Amino acid sequence: MSRPVVVETIAALRAELAARTAAGGSVALVPTMGALHDGHLALVERASEIADTVVVSIFVNPLQFGPDEDLDTYPRDLEADVTALEPFGVAFVFAPSAAEMYPHGAAQVKVTGGEIAGLFEGRTRPGHFDGVLTVVSKLLNIARPDAVVFGQKDAQQVFLVRQLVDDLNVPTKVEIVDTVRADDGLALSSRNRYLNGAERRAAVALSRALEASASAADRGIDAVLAAAQSVFMDERLVKLDYLKVVNPKTFLPVDDGYRGQARVLIAAQVGSARLIDNDAIYLN
Ligand code: PAJ
Repeated sequence: MSRPVVVETIAALRAELAARTAAGGSVALVPTMGALHDGHLALVERASEIADTVVVSIFVNPLQFGPDEDLDTYPRDLEADVTALEPFGVAFVFAPSAAEMYPHGAAQVKVTGGEIAGLFEGRTRPGHFDGVLTVVSKLLNIARPDAVVFGQKDAQQVFLVRQLVDDLNVPTKVEIVDTVRADDGLALSSRNRYLNGAERRAAVALSRALEASASAADRGIDAVLAAAQSVFMDERLVKLDYLKVVNPKTFLPVDDGYRGQARVLIAAQVGSARLIDNDAIYLN
């Protein structure tokens, strides 16, 4: 058990990493917004397996929140987060202020996603992915990691970060970790804290819908959608935002006759929490 060193400035992190990597040694970065749970910790564990020095960034990025979203109420507890990281051999927690990351207010130059950034999450949350891609670019330029670790829980984010790294020739390896779930199947999320007891019980509809869609996969896309939709029929606490089946190669919705690997995407509002989940299915 060793407590990570908390670094608050870009210059200090660069100096620390330069000292560490002078004699060789690899760096993995795990970008987060804090309120760490076992999902985040699975990413940290992977990072510590693949690199000598692990940096976890904790930054609630204002640029990726819409005007009516939960930027002000997003859970923040740096002390608890640093303590949660103790067992994982994390060298540095990079926890910059908004002024450190955006000294001119907002970023003037931004990284803008392509077509896919305007779909699904991007349609409901305009500008969200430009905020994500911009801060991820900044973090990659600041830490210059050999690998950067993301969770499959945010499937569209994973797709767009891969495009970012490919399109802008970022010299880092993108490492993906499977979604970590509670015992009843609910995907762990910092936003689950917003749920009251009844909402928490209802929220399991998202993962149940994914299970239902997987069981219907051999009957085609319409059966997949119907099976998932039927789970939400009886759940008045869960307001479905979208339910889509995409081709993992293009992240575009699949056509009727599509066969092969696909990914089911779900977003729903449960009380004040906006929850997302996804899983792979095989359409044959
Ligand atoms: P955040 O929601 O804190 O998530 C940080 C990372 O943890 C993301 O890669 C996310 O996919 C992963 N993660 C969250 N819940 C998970 C779960 N149940 N299982 C596996 N991985 C999980 O995603 C963001 O922050 C931000 O957009 C960020 C990339 C940090 C940019 O600001």
